[in-house]
Amino acid sequence: GTKRVVLSGIQPTGVPHLGNYLGAMTNWVRLERTSSPQDELLYTVVGWHALTLPQDPKALMESRIDMLATLLAIGLDPKRSVIFHQDQVRGHTELAWILSCLTPVGWLRRMTTWKSRLATSRNANDESEVDESLLNAGLLTYPVLQAADILLYKATHVPVGDDQTQHLQLTRDIADHFNRTFKQPHQKHPYFPLPTQVDTPTKRILSLKDPSSKMSKSAPDIKSRILLTDTAPQIQTKLRSAVTDSIHGITFDPVNRPGISNLLTILSACSEEPIEQVVERCRDYGHAQLKTEVADAVEEMVREPREKFERLRKERGYLEQVAKEGAEKAGEKAEKTMNEVRKLIGL
Ligand code: ADP
Ligand code: NA
Repeated sequence: GTKRVVLSGIQPTGVPHLGNYLGAMTNWVRLERTSSPQDELLYTVVGWHALTLPQDPKALMESRIDMLATLLAIGLDPKRSVIFHQDQVRGHTELAWILSCLTPVGWLRRMTTWKSRLATSRNANDESEVDESLLNAGLLTYPVLQAADILLYKATHVPVGDDQTQHLQLTRDIADHFNRTFKQPHQKHPYFPLPTQVDTPTKRILSLKDPSSKMSKSAPDIKSRILLTDTAPQIQTKLRSAVTDSIHGITFDPVNRPGISNLLTILSACSEEPIEQVVERCRDYGHAQLKTEVADAVEEMVREPREKFERLRKERGYLEQVAKEGAEKAGEKAEKTMNEVRKLIGL
């Protein structure tokens, strides 16, 4: 078949949670294992994106090393995939600038991520007025940086969770706009391929404390998420306090029983069992019994990555070496694209 270029990124926010893992990262390993020899795979820790929120410099430095170690701990092979820090490769911010000059502000204001930022930023004097002046410009424009991350390597396949669908559509729109604007008279193919999303079987894991929202690293309650490095007792404790409902028995009903359904989704993903089979097996369980079984399945799944992470995290020299080699390989491809892009736009 034709060559695939796979690219995905994750923010350097320390250790990922179960949502990141089941919603996106398990797919990264799967794609690596099922790839053809001619396919290219790139996985990046996106440091530039972290700056859209205030960061403590020391903590950020540690978090980006944590995240790189995690990519190896989940089983990615640095000899097969290019694993790198986005902020160590020139080209991401350069291409983002070029693309931002082609992107109508209206496209960015339509992003639900921007709208939800706005919604939480009310004018102090008039609660009904949103106040843009409280938000930095990076929060509006980072989807363009995301487009640049993808297009810099002419990626064709992007494995991300379903919260990223709108951003990936924006990437295609921007790529298409670039292709039309800078089309050469004798050019056979559009310059940038339009990337497609690769879905995971598990689309969305919900917060253990508020099953109306997704599991997220920014939620204040640490018990709302399970980290890949959590120990067996920590996993047990978090699951025991998971919010469910007062309905007797176990049924899969995401609309009316989001808490219980989320637990069943997690169990199904961890045990690689179809959801119907899990429901059938657990039908007569009490809630506590279900939680114990979920905790056991999660602990079984995270044990190996957790142990590998603890080992790797101490090998700073090795992690730096992986990052250096990754940045060199990614840098070569990025430079090639940037030379072509500069020529196309006349710089
Ligand atoms: P977060 O959303 O926690 O800040 P990132 O933005 O770094 O994490 O996302 C990393 C990847 O994890 C993305 O592909 C995103 O779609 C996926 N993801 C994040 N949270 C969840 C969740 N609760 N369920 C499924 N996938 C998720
Ligand atoms: Na996200």
